[in-house]
Amino acid sequence: MDTVANDQSAPRADGKDTTLIYRQSRWTRLTHWIWAFSLFFMLLSGLQIFNARPQLYIGKQSGFEFNNTILQIGAENTATGPRGFTEIFGHRFDTTGVLGWSGPPGQETPRGFPAWATIPSYYDLGTARVVHFFFAWILTSTLLVWLIAGLINGHIRRDLAPRVSDLRKLPRDIVDHAKLKFHHTREYNTLQKMAYGGVLFVLLPLMIITGLAMSPSMNSVLPWLNEILGGRQTARTIHFTVMVLLVLFFVIHILMILAAGPINELRSIITGWYRTDPPAKHDQPTERSA
Ligand code: HEM
Repeated sequence: MDTVANDQSAPRADGKDTTLIYRQSRWTRLTHWIWAFSLFFMLLSGLQIFNARPQLYIGKQSGFEFNNTILQIGAENTATGPRGFTEIFGHRFDTTGVLGWSGPPGQETPRGFPAWATIPSYYDLGTARVVHFFFAWILTSTLLVWLIAGLINGHIRRDLAPRVSDLRKLPRDIVDHAKLKFHHTREYNTLQKMAYGGVLFVLLPLMIITGLAMSPSMNSVLPWLNEILGGRQTARTIHFTVMVLLVLFFVIHILMILAAGPINELRSIITGWYRTDPPAKHDQPTERSA
């Protein structure tokens, strides 16, 4: 978010004065849309790659005497015909039509994730890997650009770094979110700081590190990376778990944007301009802390 002098106050039809402020810098907006676009292609191509072996394991050991599978998507023959199943930590769920056994009626086939959730939609591991790695490098470079820009223009320190006061505001913030009561201010609220900080400083870096740990060429350059992550299979499981958390973040992110006022929110992340709430009667004008 930029601090600029030309904030514009505008009277509204309902008589309340609101202020249009320049909230998101061009670096925040540009990098946001590049990573949103990249993550879309990475998710769908990643699910195609996962389909080549729709199972996840923990640990370094493998062999018939070990059962270290924590997730399995598959198909089985039953008295009523083939069914798809998903097994998580030994608990089996019937997921016919979506996971394990899917396709147009009469043409179902055994496959982990369904055709509509993968790139390409048909089985093609080679193309999926090309798409996945291409966008992985775009995502990594974009994150680096965001980090450098955010350090130089103060976005990270000013808008994302948590403060003691954020901790104090947390309970109020949780209650407000639960009641769908949103405050449109220049600053991110505590939950936003936690969510965005979690994505940018924990989930995305962990995604990149576990991705690198699975690459055979990286294994020869940095063999310890695989080691500290608990082996290749554990790295793959962490990679998949981070994907699930990012999808969860995305769903909540979109719901919050819809609830907070999609036009104002979208204008801010597209043009940078954001309409803030009118100041409450008892509010004194204050300088924004830098
Ligand atoms: C995978 C997809 C996405 C991810 C990982 C993501 C993540 C983020 C992050 C980390 C921020 C904070 C950026 C910063 O301050 O530097 C942000 C802000 C924002 N994003 Fe997304 N986003 C995604 C998709 C979208 C989409 C599809 C939309 C619109 C429909 C959207 C709308 C917004 C808006 C409006 C903000 C600003 C929120 C505010 O100022 O209160 N995002 N997003």
